[in-house]
Amino acid sequence: MTVKDPMSDIDLPVQQTSQRARFAGSLRAADAGRRFKLAGWVHRRRDLGGLYFVDLRDRGGLLQVSFGPEWSPPEVLARAGDLGAEDVIAVSGEVCLKPEANPELPSGEVELRAESLEVLTDSTTPAIPVYRGPEEDLPSEEMRLRHRVLDLRRPELRDNLLLRHRLVLETRNRLDALGFMEVETPMLTKPTPEGARDYLVPSRVHPGEFYALPQSPQIYKQLLMAAGFDRYFQIARCFRDEDLRADRQPEFTQIDVEASFVEPEDILGWMEELMAGLAEVAGVSAPRPFPVMTHAEAMDRFGTDRPDMRWDLEITDWSEALADSESGILRGALDAGGRLRGILLPGGGALSRKQIEAVEAVAKAQGAPGLLWMKGNPDGASGPLSRFTSPEHQARIGLTDGDLVLLAAGTDRQISWALGAARLEVIRLLDLPMDRETAWLWVVDFPVFEDDPERGGLAPNHHPFVMPNMDDFHLLDSDPLAVRGKAYDLVYNGSELGSGSIRNHDADLQRELLARLGLSDEEIDRKFGFLLEALRSGAPPHGGIALGMDRIVKEFAGAQSLRDVIAFPKTTAARALFEGAPSPVGPDDLADLHLEVIDEGAE
Ligand code: AMO
Repeated sequence: MTVKDPMSDIDLPVQQTSQRARFAGSLRAADAGRRFKLAGWVHRRRDLGGLYFVDLRDRGGLLQVSFGPEWSPPEVLARAGDLGAEDVIAVSGEVCLKPEANPELPSGEVELRAESLEVLTDSTTPAIPVYRGPEEDLPSEEMRLRHRVLDLRRPELRDNLLLRHRLVLETRNRLDALGFMEVETPMLTKPTPEGARDYLVPSRVHPGEFYALPQSPQIYKQLLMAAGFDRYFQIARCFRDEDLRADRQPEFTQIDVEASFVEPEDILGWMEELMAGLAEVAGVSAPRPFPVMTHAEAMDRFGTDRPDMRWDLEITDWSEALADSESGILRGALDAGGRLRGILLPGGGALSRKQIEAVEAVAKAQGAPGLLWMKGNPDGASGPLSRFTSPEHQARIGLTDGDLVLLAAGTDRQISWALGAARLEVIRLLDLPMDRETAWLWVVDFPVFEDDPERGGLAPNHHPFVMPNMDDFHLLDSDPLAVRGKAYDLVYNGSELGSGSIRNHDADLQRELLARLGLSDEEIDRKFGFLLEALRSGAPPHGGIALGMDRIVKEFAGAQSLRDVIAFPKTTAARALFEGAPSPVGPDDLADLHLEVIDEGAE
């Protein structure tokens, strides 16, 4: 990944304002001999006995400003001696070639010899340092979020946000070129079913009634298709009250897309073109066409619906190879309709028993009853699975000296995700070399339904508007979980970047599917009546997708967390630490909103 030199972001003449001539970081050897006024922050100040060196920082980068008795008047020199970290200053002087260039800085060949110095803001001592020496660690993330304004001064975060800006710009240009138009949809709306809790906003003028912040613009974009807009997009804010993980924020941004008279291949083609454009901006490779794999195959071979294809390592089905095993555990699993699946790891014998137990713990956390393992040694196999298998079985599996076999026995529902998690964990533990640096993948044919563990019955695998594959329609009663949808996900290096589908444009079919999800007629009308009305009024066949903008920037920037690509993110506890949100409101405000807060601890 290469982030473009920030200097090229704004042309030199445009950098000029009433208070300064150029970005400090934009000066180069060719500017030697010219005189400039510059302004910015004191990044670092060094005192070399009567000479002061200040690294001046602005959006364009860093420049060394030097104060010395030969070129700085005495009062300027004295003021330079008093400068503190992060003071905001303006300096004027001549650009000179440095006796020794600093190859680390783009402006490293020159310095500004200051003849005047104005302190524009005498800053308080920074609560966290902006300048860090090469050996110094970052402050804790909590401290950095608490002091986000200082944290945002770090060049890494500036670069991430600059990349984000360029990607948003490229998105608009590419989609515009493909005939998509941007339409804004409401923030104060009705609940949209994307599977999370809603953030609710109480209405002051309608006591006891609430708006929901959109979990996505899903229904609105379908309404826009019914309205004839044909190709819509939006850089859309979405809000979801859900358990937060490193790849989730309660408030995030989607590139939301919808088009009429389309099949999945239309959407996939446009999105590949868009992603290729974005990848180019970020300097990431994106060879087209992206590979395509069905959901069933992804679950079978990689134990996940978002396989990280940077590694070829696969899950194998050994049900047949071990069918004649005498072991009660293996036979029992097969007799109960399960399979014997696992991973053969060449060189995996290097893992210690403790490490294998750690892999098993990961698999168990995903629902597997356990993992059986064995190692190939010169004098035969060792480990629990070696006792359940004969040398012939081991030969069929392909176990050789130095290998490790991990095996799970059970139904696919019990063991697929567990094996997928175990696969990633052994890749991590063995630090396996990648088979390719970047891996794009479309996963298609997602099921329409999944089990609803909380309520019982069926839940949508994605959302309730996915068009079923008509080849599977006859299974709707007999085996609804086997009904595939015209749905697809975009996966990059094991991260789900986007998700979409063709929708039900037929109101009766949509109503039928909502009923299958356990909604009563009354609920369907109350929650989705307006969508059904729009479909009935003449909706074209349509479909779309939403790409997670934050995730794209995170992946392309190589950032550790979504918080590093969002200017003012929330913590994993959904708090904004700098501004202090959420926060209590006074009784008058609550009364206006017809609300009362119940203190649950007060009983
Ligand atoms: P979905 O819910 O899969 O689909 O979301 C689409 C994409 O948005 C990103 N994403 C998130 N990013 C950060 N934080 C979150 N909490 C979060 N949740 C989702 C992911 C995901 O792939 N309306 C459908 C799209 C459609 O069918 O057109 C939808 O919202 O990258």
